[in-house]
Amino acid sequence: KLEDYGLSANSGFLPGHPPLARLENPYYVPWETLLENLGPLIETRKVREWVNALPVLTPGRLVSEAEQRRAYMMLGFMAHAYIWGGINACERLPPAISIPFLSLSETLQIPPVATYAAVCLWNYSLRDPNKPVDDLENLESLLTFTGTEDEAWFYLVSVAIEARGAPTIPLMLEALRAARDDDIQTVKDCLNIFSSRIEDLTLLLKRMYERCRPHVFYFGIRPFLAGSKRMAEAGLPNGVFYDTGSDDDCYREYSGGSNAQSSLIQAFDIILGVEHYPTGQKKDPAASSLEGTAPPPKHSFIQEMRNYMPGPHRQFLEHLCLVPNIHSYTESRPDDIELCTAYNGCLGALEKFRAAHKAIVARYIIIPASQAKQVALVPEASKAAPIRNIAGSMALESESPPAGGGHGLASSEAVKNGLRGTGGTQLMPFLEQSRVETLAVAIGDR
Ligand code: HEM
Ligand code: ALA
Repeated sequence: KLEDYGLSANSGFLPGHPPLARLENPYYVPWETLLENLGPLIETRKVREWVNALPVLTPGRLVSEAEQRRAYMMLGFMAHAYIWGGINACERLPPAISIPFLSLSETLQIPPVATYAAVCLWNYSLRDPNKPVDDLENLESLLTFTGTEDEAWFYLVSVAIEARGAPTIPLMLEALRAARDDDIQTVKDCLNIFSSRIEDLTLLLKRMYERCRPHVFYFGIRPFLAGSKRMAEAGLPNGVFYDTGSDDDCYREYSGGSNAQSSLIQAFDIILGVEHYPTGQKKDPAASSLEGTAPPPKHSFIQEMRNYMPGPHRQFLEHLCLVPNIHSYTESRPDDIELCTAYNGCLGALEKFRAAHKAIVARYIIIPASQAKQVALVPEASKAAPIRNIAGSMALESESPPAGGGHGLASSEAVKNGLRGTGGTQLMPFLEQSRVETLAVAIGDR
């Protein structure tokens, strides 16, 4: 059953086998060669030249889903390197990228951008295949924009979280089954294991600080993850034109890569009955009846991020939404203190995860952004030659932000116009509301 949705009991939303590290068919050598050299090509600003010289390859020669995923993530890295790897953003993707990327996007039912699947789920290898995937020391990234350990670590923390979180999916499906059968003891047992698992994930999340330096992330890595939606200040007023040479070609606007596209965390919310509302909008208290019949909002950012998941994962979440969740079950047994405590314990653990995540966002985005703003306000510094993506390599050497405010999102205009996440949210108000919403469905005295 899990397999029908592209999940596996052992690895959850990660592929059942580690992703392919290379396309073996020599036909795809031009892609592999470009990606082997991606970091230096970006640094020397030669990446566009190289992409422009690529032949248009068909994805028709990819023989397995594993190969299709590999090709999709390669094209995701190429596309974002092409768009953001120059002095100014480039709003047109040439046919050598657009044609195979649009085709694979349709096959895999996922948008043609550097999604969470492209940079995290399908982008790791194991140093020792006999050691576990949730061991961060055992993981390596297949592709990065910068070649830095910071960037690999940023992606790999997510991979480890997906791996450690994977067994919670069958665990919680068992809880949902037990709730349906009114097997209350099993529900409680599952919930107690679940909350300690979520605590493990928070510990992994906090390991971000170990090897991903905030200024390297902010100035060097993050600009490449940016999307094409609401990116006028960064030079994409219409989005990105996917040029395939056809009359139907058009500008498209997509959110950038964001962990909000992780199906794992969204599955937790659905199973626990946590509801997210558009930022600034609160649940209508009159709508919260005992039966919990208020329909969940259909247009929140978190909901929208489902469109950026691989098709089968999105379908899995849609299916989960149809099953009575643990919130409604617990609500139907309000006198069982043990059950309420176990349920609220899971909410508390998830809330702590979101609090730890907010602290990361403060360190990795808010602080460096305000430093960039200060630098931009110093007249001599703002007169300096604009340093955009190249800022990343400068930032590696010093803790201070590069003059000129760095690239795109980090630029002084962007700061003035309000800082946004790569997914497009207003960062802190969104994340704080998401944290508060996690506790809002607690039952009885906490
Ligand atoms: C959402 C930043 C790492 C899980 C977000 C958002 C930002 C952000 C700005 C808001 C959505 C957007 O506009 O993009 C960061 C930064 C990280 C980081 C700076 C590290 C340096 C992680 C990791 C996870 C994670 C490792 C674990 C899976 C989430 C989730 C959301 C989110 C689940 C959706 C909001 C929610 O469910 O409450 N992140 N993130 N993030 N992030 Fe992260
Ligand atoms: N979503 C993360 C950000 O906004 C990656 O930086």
